[in-house]
Amino acid sequence: GTAAYQTAFDTAVAAEERIEPRDWMPDAYRATLVRQIAQHAHSEIIGMQPEANWITRAPSLRRKAILMAKVQDEAGHGLYLYSAAETLGTGRDELLDKLHSGRQKYSSIFNYPTLTWADVGAIGWLVDGAAITNQVPLCRCSYGPYARAMVRICKEESFHQRQGYELLLALSRGTEAQHAMAQDAVDRWWWPSLMMFGPPDDESSHSAQSMEWKIKRHSNDELRQRFVDICVPQAESLGLTLPDPDLVWNEERGHHDFGAIDWTEFWEVLKGNGPCNEQRITQRRQAHDEGAWVREAAAAHAAKHSEAKYS
Ligand code: ACO
Repeated sequence: GTAAYQTAFDTAVAAEERIEPRDWMPDAYRATLVRQIAQHAHSEIIGMQPEANWITRAPSLRRKAILMAKVQDEAGHGLYLYSAAETLGTGRDELLDKLHSGRQKYSSIFNYPTLTWADVGAIGWLVDGAAITNQVPLCRCSYGPYARAMVRICKEESFHQRQGYELLLALSRGTEAQHAMAQDAVDRWWWPSLMMFGPPDDESSHSAQSMEWKIKRHSNDELRQRFVDICVPQAESLGLTLPDPDLVWNEERGHHDFGAIDWTEFWEVLKGNGPCNEQRITQRRQAHDEGAWVREAAAAHAAKHSEAKYS
């Protein structure tokens, strides 16, 4: 009966084995994975918008080619992740419906505007840097298809992070105006990047259970601290400052202390009240509607193809 299945599942998770699509799993485990993977997939495709905003205005052909490749990668990440969710029995149509009707979330970070070219650099360095810090441990997630998707995504994210760093370095070493533009972008993206890791541990409703299931390997606060510690020396090499007067090395803890995060802002963004929530979701719905003929044509082609094969 179910008890035997539950024991087999618990044993597999404890032994660091992967749970695969055809294995029995608790309903709540499945639901948690669908929630997290869907939110992650949605973040990838919504995340294309703030950066695509700069493709036509990239300052050189080289920068434009890099940015186009990067935005295309994000679309690919969305596809791997929607496919991983499909292995849990949830179709992409259903997930997109939930995104478009506001019943599923995407990352808070993509509700902030990209005001200058330097924002492309700050997103690469900080946002993709935060994403890697959060996602490397997910390569060891207990659910096989999600863990495997993460391996490739992390490799690509690491390239994205470097391109952002290199872009910011070029601006930081450029003219005074360019340096100021880079600093302004870092000032605006720093705090929202720290919020990407999710609420503090004592307000994180899913962490304890997700860690028990080995979906999450570290708590939100642990990963946030790791990210801060990584960024401090990188900011120094960039010649840029992080906008936090309380940021200081704590010898005793072996970590940097940092200032208080404005959690009111975070929860407001989650409620839909961030600077760009409405724009992002409106554009997403519009892109989906405009793509309807492509989906129809692809389905018609597939149907024709399978008729030819089986008749
Ligand atoms: N943006 C939007 N919602 C968030 C964020 C965030 N940055 N952080 C947490 N939340 C939501 C959670 O989804 C949850 O809401 P729900 O119950 O309605 O689903 C609520 O806040 C409480 O948070 P937690 O209990 O801490 O949620 P969880 O255990 O899922 O942890 C985390 C959040 C760390 C983001 C986790 O889901 C995760 O690791 N996801 C995979 C990575 C990811 O989604 N990255 C996307 C951005 S990076 C990129 O795409 C470039």
